[in-house]
Amino acid sequence: MRHLIEIGDLSVGEIDALIRTAQDIIGVPERYADACRGKKLATLFFEPSTRTRLSFEAAMYELGGNVLSVSDAGTSSAAKGESVADTAKTVSCYADIIAMRHPKEGAPMVAAMNASVPVINAGDGGHNHPTQTLADLFTIWREKGRLGELTVGFCGDLKFGRTVHSLISALSRYEGVRFVLVSPEELKLPSYVKKDVLARGGIPYEQTTDLEAVLPTLDVLYMTRVQRERFFNEEDYLRLKDRYILTPDKLRGARQDLSVMHPLPRVNEISVAIDADPRACYFKQVLNGKFMRMALILMLLEVGYVH
Ligand code: CP
Repeated sequence: MRHLIEIGDLSVGEIDALIRTAQDIIGVPERYADACRGKKLATLFFEPSTRTRLSFEAAMYELGGNVLSVSDAGTSSAAKGESVADTAKTVSCYADIIAMRHPKEGAPMVAAMNASVPVINAGDGGHNHPTQTLADLFTIWREKGRLGELTVGFCGDLKFGRTVHSLISALSRYEGVRFVLVSPEELKLPSYVKKDVLARGGIPYEQTTDLEAVLPTLDVLYMTRVQRERFFNEEDYLRLKDRYILTPDKLRGARQDLSVMHPLPRVNEISVAIDADPRACYFKQVLNGKFMRMALILMLLEVGYVH
């Protein structure tokens, strides 16, 4: 039985297989319409979500399966003090696969250790968000035709942004990738990511506070929201939240083939005036996420459709 807790749980070959499968789902959706007939996905979301929960649910419905959902921690027995381990054992009695989002880092891992069905981490605290990474990799692959030989800029909250940590970890496994890390001093990439991923892999990177200076060098720009829910101090959040706002004026210095990405939700980081720019990819990411989650469900349920 397989789980997906962090992106490193998948080999590069398996990510390639998921990409091929997602591409096939887009081309021939009817081939997959009954793939999960009789199977149930439980989405256990103890933190807010729009995209991740709904895309998992849409993915399971499009595979012919069904969905059970906890969308609010306050309406589950977690509010009465039930442990993650007991929740996982319980939900395993009803569902064939679980997608869990939790504010506590490591909670999906605890669920995986106690469940008798596959568990997918749908975001744990400021730690990891591997299925967003699958959406991001598929988007880069569709936009650029490759996952290597790229200069990728990350901008905003690189400290608490779990999507950033997971995507850096994933892209570090491809040849010729270079990172440009743009953030305020207070929101720099955590040293454990720099040490365990970048230094260990010998991955070239630079850190800066100046987005406009580095924008012309980028193939991909990954903007992020300042994660208000992870701050201890509202004053710090208010001081930092609008530090980087991408506007059409700033984008003038960028390459014509730049891909502008954002895991969403967006607050102010990208002006809505950029949405019509052909370089904006963030709503494509949303759709790509559904196809990659379909491919992942097929892989973890071992129903035999993965290419
Ligand atoms: N990108 C992402 O995780 O969005 P949601 O919080 O809406 O699921």
